[in-house]
This record gives sequence, C-alpha cells and structure tokens, in this order.
Amino acid sequence: MPADTKEIPAAAPKQGQPVTHTLTVLFNDQPGVTRTLTAADGTSILHALLENGIHLQHNCGGVCACSTCHVIIKAGMENLPDMSEAEEDQLDEAIGLTLTSRLGCQSKLRGDVTVLIPQQTIFGGK
Ligand code: FES
Repeated sequence: MPADTKEIPAAAPKQGQPVTHTLTVLFNDQPGVTRTLTAADGTSILHALLENGIHLQHNCGGVCACSTCHVIIKAGMENLPDMSEAEEDQLDEAIGLTLTSRLGCQSKLRGDVTVLIPQQTIFGGK
C-alpha cells in the first residue's frame, strides 16, 4: 500500500448502497448445524431462506393465509416489525407455537436476526 494511501475502516453503507443484515439460521431437525446468510433490508425471512436454498414450507405463497412458514426467533426480535393482527391470527394455527414465534413471510429484516426453523417433515415432505 503506498504511503499516502489510508486504509478506510468498514463503515455503514453509503447513500445509494443497499443495507444488508445477517440472518443466522438454526435447524430443529439438524442440531448443531448453522447457516449464516446476508439479506437486503426489508427482505422477509421466508424470502431470504428460499433465495439461499433453505426449505421453509409456505403453502399460501407468502401472503399470510396459512401458518406453515412458522419460525422461532432466537435473537433479534427487535429487528423485526411488530406483528400485525393478521399475522397474529394466522400464527395461532401454527404447530409448536412459542412466545417468540413469527411467520417467516411476514417478518421483514430490519437488523440481524437468529431464527430456528421448526421440523419441516411434519408437512409430509422435506
Ligand atoms: S407462507 Fe402462508 S402465512 Fe407465510
């Protein structure tokens, strides 16, 4: 590096650059396995998973009309939007509901999140 060149430390994205977040993924049916993804701000957890080849059931196609995209937030709940009444209603139907459950299709990343994907074999496939 030339003497007159300064190393610029990593910083927040500049105007016009996309803001991205880290989605850490844990799997109920694969204990010990972790995947770390990067997703653009505002991307739903469902979309981020599917884009990266990670299966999450989504019977209604991501329009908040089923509960098959149920996920459990392990960290970063504050980095998701508040739950809508429609999400709350659909989530009531989810299998294995917890206090930190959300619908993957309705949970849009606003910061880093760690998510646990429930067993997917309950849907009759993988
Ligand atoms: S895919 Fe149906 S509610 Fe999310």
